[in-house]
Amino acid sequence: MIALKRFAVITASDSGFAGEREDISGPEAIRMMEAFGYQNIAYQMLPDDKEVLTKAMREIADSGVADLILTTGGTGFSVRDCTPEATKAVIEREVPGIPEAMRWFSLGFTKRAMLSRGMAGIRGNTLIVNLPGSPKAVKECLEYIQDSLDHGLEILLAEASNCAR
Ligand code: MTE
Repeated sequence: MIALKRFAVITASDSGFAGEREDISGPEAIRMMEAFGYQNIAYQMLPDDKEVLTKAMREIADSGVADLILTTGGTGFSVRDCTPEATKAVIEREVPGIPEAMRWFSLGFTKRAMLSRGMAGIRGNTLIVNLPGSPKAVKECLEYIQDSLDHGLEILLAEASNCAR
């Protein structure tokens, strides 16, 4: 019997971290995942800083408190956007199909979906998925990937439970 899947959300935003704008995307990701039956265990608003983001993702993954880390924002072309680079530094196995599928599906909404450099991958027993920063994109992407995400996590967690999750 697989336990409730636990997820953390990290919003990467310099202006959000500075308190200059309210984060809508992170709470939207939490709302949606909770509606899918997932349990939120952490939410962090962090600056667009590769070292800070890498450290946060590594700590969550290595502490074993979350099965999934969703990041929002920092996947575009702005000079400070570095979420994919931070993710790449943390993951052990890349999962290219998830961002490929999100971009493919998102192109039906906006051609600008091709500008998201988001990636996904696995560290230990934790899957990390980068989402674009707009709440609309978060909603569109999560709705599309949710069932496959769920299936992938079940495989990951079934193996994790064999080695005492
Ligand atoms: N994907 C979806 N589904 N919907 C969107 O509105 N916006 C795009 C893209 N992906 C978008 C999307 C835009 S305009 C940009 S610039 C990139 O995501 C990168 O966004 P980020 O830098 O906030 O991560």
